[in-house]
Amino acid sequence: MSESKAEQATLILGDSQYQLPIVEGSEHERAIDIRTLRDRTGYITLDPGYGNSGSCESAITFIDGEQGILRYRGIPIEQFAGSPTFTDVAWLLIFGELPTPAEYEEFSADLTRFANLDEGMKHQFEGFPRTAPPMAILSAMINALSCFHPELHELEDLTQFRHAAARLISKIRTIAAYAFRKSRGLPYIYPDPSLKYVPNFMHMMFSQPYKQYICPQLVREALNLILILHADHEQNCSTSTVRMVGSSGANLFASCAAGVCALWGPLHGGANVEVLTMLEQIHAGNMTPEEYVKLAKDKDSKVRLMGFGHRVYKNFDPRARMLASVAERLLPQLSGDDPLLEIARRLEEIALSDPYFIERKLYPNVDFYSGIILRAIGIPTNMFTVIFAIGRLPGWIAHWWEHDQTQRNKIARPRQIYVGETLRDYVPKERRG
Ligand code: CMC
Repeated sequence: MSESKAEQATLILGDSQYQLPIVEGSEHERAIDIRTLRDRTGYITLDPGYGNSGSCESAITFIDGEQGILRYRGIPIEQFAGSPTFTDVAWLLIFGELPTPAEYEEFSADLTRFANLDEGMKHQFEGFPRTAPPMAILSAMINALSCFHPELHELEDLTQFRHAAARLISKIRTIAAYAFRKSRGLPYIYPDPSLKYVPNFMHMMFSQPYKQYICPQLVREALNLILILHADHEQNCSTSTVRMVGSSGANLFASCAAGVCALWGPLHGGANVEVLTMLEQIHAGNMTPEEYVKLAKDKDSKVRLMGFGHRVYKNFDPRARMLASVAERLLPQLSGDDPLLEIARRLEEIALSDPYFIERKLYPNVDFYSGIILRAIGIPTNMFTVIFAIGRLPGWIAHWWEHDQTQRNKIARPRQIYVGETLRDYVPKERRG
């Protein structure tokens, strides 16, 4: 970040003028630095939803929502479509550079080494009802990791942090698979050290004690890409939550457990489930795509076209473009002609030529096609948001660490404009109404 002395913002409040510094990021994004505003003027700023507020400086992910650009540590998202593994990208996001071959091997070995859960932790799954939403289990069990690794509450150096990060990235996949097995009343399948990250997850999800699931290459590639495309998205709701919880000094596990809760909501990670529900409703003949879009435009209906719109992208979400092309390529091979893909194409076509969506700059987002692909590779709907969480975890960890390293002891604590009752007296019970 650089501060431009020549350019300052002038704020006029009554008879007084205040100069506020302009700061500029490495991609020339500009901000008015208001850090001294309240002390100098007595005023605060009001920005519900934080659409105009930068909460931090960050060197992890760059998004230009107007141009539809997304870069991880400077590298365009499109360049991750080919050979990189999720492990590669996780390292890049967390540590800032692509791993050297030696670093990659070591990190990959750690992910294998840490995959198993403490048996005590395994028993905790028994306490949940079969109907428990996997996102609830995921959050609870990530938090429970704090109980099993007290030595990782205070991360004193990079080595300790690296171990905590590897443990979490490895174990989230085991927890996720066990949550699924629990919901189906199936026995837990231990991780297989001979398998890499994605096939090992699929093994724990779908193997039987008497029959090993062999992950097809196509499935491996599709899931690997989905995880990569979800790996970070700068200050979204769940990442901001992780940073905020971490700002209180809470440990990495507790902070990421909070991130899972934030991600669960239907306006955030839960949207991939809603998209599939929407497509299935249309497929079941309850509505045509045209009727659904009409309903989504009707403000009284409370229905939205799920998988459309984004706070930052006012152009195509590049992740949606990549997933659309994966869906087109993979679905015929994985599941034949999926009628839901045809419905999704039709919805997109209608919405992109409708003035309501054009004027509001609403385009397909990452969730629009991810559900169809996940369904095709055999992931049940109630696990979609869990997959999003597994993908987003490296981003959460990277942001938690960045906050810790750059703003340690600076608790995130927004202010408010109070609009409630002014001063009044307490009335004892016997004198009330
Ligand atoms: N369908 C119909 N209308 C919409 C939609 C939609 N999907 N999204 C936004 N609008 C309308 C909204 O009603 C409003 O209209 P008006 O100006 O007439 O009041 C206008 O567009 C602006 O919407 P907003 O809610 O103020 O925009 P936002 O930036 O606060 O919300 C959003 C962004 C993603 C929450 C929203 O677009 C949405 O609810 N989309 C559907 C849910 C979804 O797909 N979420 C996944 C987001 S991407 C993955 C992630 O980050 O988790």
